[in-house]
Parts: sequence; structure tokens; C-alpha cells
Amino acid sequence: MSLIEIRDLSVTIGPARPGTKAPEIPILKHIGLSVEQGEVLGLVGESGCGKTMTVLSVMGLLPRGGRITGGSISFMDRDLAALSQGEMGKIRGRHISMIFQEPMTSLNPLMTIGEQLREILTRHEGLTGAANKEKCLRLLRAVNIPETEKIYDCAPFRLSGGMRQRVMIAMALSCEPELIIADEPTTALDVTTQAQILDLFKEIRGRTRSSFIFVTHDLGVIAEIADRTAVLYAGYVVEECSAASLFEKPLHPYTDGLMRSRMGRRHSNRKQLYSIPGVVPVPGNMPPGCPFAPRCAHAAERCRREVPPLEEIEKGHGVRCWRQVP
Ligand SMILES: Nc1ncnc2c1ncn2[C@@H]1O[C@H](COP(=O)(O)OP(=O)(O)O)[C@@H](O)[C@H]1O
Ligand SMILES: [Mg+2]
Repeated sequence: MSLIEIRDLSVTIGPARPGTKAPEIPILKHIGLSVEQGEVLGLVGESGCGKTMTVLSVMGLLPRGGRITGGSISFMDRDLAALSQGEMGKIRGRHISMIFQEPMTSLNPLMTIGEQLREILTRHEGLTGAANKEKCLRLLRAVNIPETEKIYDCAPFRLSGGMRQRVMIAMALSCEPELIIADEPTTALDVTTQAQILDLFKEIRGRTRSSFIFVTHDLGVIAEIADRTAVLYAGYVVEECSAASLFEKPLHPYTDGLMRSRMGRRHSNRKQLYSIPGVVPVPGNMPPGCPFAPRCAHAAERCRREVPPLEEIEKGHGVRCWRQVP
């Protein structure tokens, strides 16, 4: 059985202005994803494709106006989509924790690192006094923070971006959650620090039994860390398969486009730079049919008319594209 299984999840947002009769706008459409115990699921797609909304749905943290309108999120015998905020609060941090792109937004600027870690351990594990501090320092050491005693007494603003992200990871790990969600945890960091934090994630996944959902817009990150990958486009899962198949045999033209943009960058030859023409359509202004059709070199008439279903083309490899449907 999967640790978490999202089935047919649809999310809307709006109305844009409260009190008006503006329609709710679909943001996520029939998302289906699952993560096995100990597995790393990568979620990839350009900015605006719905990656953050997907993981915020799992956390029960959709922004104001966001609403789950269909589907379920099964996790440890519960449907997270149906839980109250109070019930969800007991799962967050304890069984599922999240690491955000910008660590400063989730750290309290007025509390020292030690105070924030200590509070989590007191709340979830009832740890106090010396035992609590000992575990805090152990957690900081486990994310390769040097001089843990000193960092323990620091305010967040005195740390570098990379150090703050390490602290966030320590917090996320503190209660040994079954599922850790990381939403672009390296995007806000400089390249060298990105590589270090990615190495830390790889190290952690080797020593915990936790499962991960790792969100990124960067296929290079997927190649480094993911076991399986779901490619999101305009609120749909358009391809889902093992990370190996994704690189060997991408089936969706969108995935193929992401691959080619990536390769262009690696060769760093300006003539070879490729980017997918056009932009991600905005919610509320979706083209009819396949949302990728306007940018797709292979689009046929049917693509502009009907949204293709997500079909399992090979065992464990699903794709939402008319050209691939047998
Ligand atoms: N608070 C919000 N209000 C209205 N629309 C939003 C809000 N947050 C995100 N969206 C829209 O939802 C879509 C998906 O966004 P998001 O999940 O943040 O994408 P990603 O994380 O893949 O970049 C985007 O079109 C975005 O504009
Ligand atoms: Mg995002």
C-alpha cells in the first residue's frame, strides 16, 4: 500500500474579488499521485503549473479562497482532503512536514534557532530540559551545521541562506515524519549552496525511512534525487513514471521540451539554447483541449478539442497525450 495516495484531486480558487459572483477558477485538475514508503517522488514543471498548490493541498494549507472540490488524499488510513484544520494540525509537523523555498518566511525572526527547535520537540514529543537541548543539537549536527552550540543561540537573520535551509531541514526531520515535502528547497540559494543542500537531501534519504515529495522546476535536480517523477502542466499531471524512464524515454512533448531546454543549457552554446515556445496558460483562460496544444509542435486537430486522458502506456508509465494513446 502506498504511504500517500492522491486520487482525482481538483482544486479551485476564487472568486477573485470577495463578494462578487466571479466564478471559481480551476487550478488543479484530477491530479493523481502516489508515494511509496521510502520513495522520493519528484514533481516537476515550469513556474505556474500547480506544483505548490498540489503540495499545499496535502498540507491543508491552501491560500485564502482555495478549495478542494473533488478527489481524496489518503494518508495513514485518513482522507486528508476531508479533515478539519484542527485534525490537520495534528498531522502537520508530526507525520508530514514541509520545507519551503525561502526559509526566512517559515522561521520566526524573533526567536533563536534553539527556541524554535525546542518548541517543536516540546509540542510533539513532550521533551523538556537537557534532553530537549541534547536532541536539538543532535538534529543540527545531523544536517551538518558546524558549531551547533553557537547556532543554537543565534537569531535566524544571522545565518546564511544555506544555513537557514539546513535549520529548516533539521526542523522538518525533528519528529521523524513519514512524509517530508520539499518545495523548491534549493531555488533561492546560490549554485554552490544548492549543490550542498541537494547532497544533504541525498544523505538524509539514505538514512531515514521517510518518503519525500520533492518539488522542483529543474530536471537536473530530478535526475539527482527522484525515484519517480510526475510532470505537471497547467494543473494536470501530463506524465508520470520512474525517473529512469523519464530521461530514457520521455513520452509527452512537454517533458521532451523540458529535456531539450535542459540540454541546451548544459552545452552552453548560445546557438543550441532551446526553450519551449510560448508560456504556461493562466488559470481561467485555458485553451480548449490539451492545455499544451498551443505550444506543441505535434498538436493535431483533436488535441485542440479534447483533453486527453492520463493513460498507462507501459506498466508504471502514464501520459496524458493523444499522440500516445493506443
Ligand atoms: N493565492 C493565489 N491566488 C490565485 N491564484 C493563485 C494563488 N496561488 C497560486 N495561484 C495560481 O495557481 C497556479 C498554480 O500555481 P503554483 O501551484 O504556485 O505553481 P508552481 O508552484 O508550479 O509554480 C498559477 O497559475 C498561479 O497563478
Ligand atoms: Mg511553486
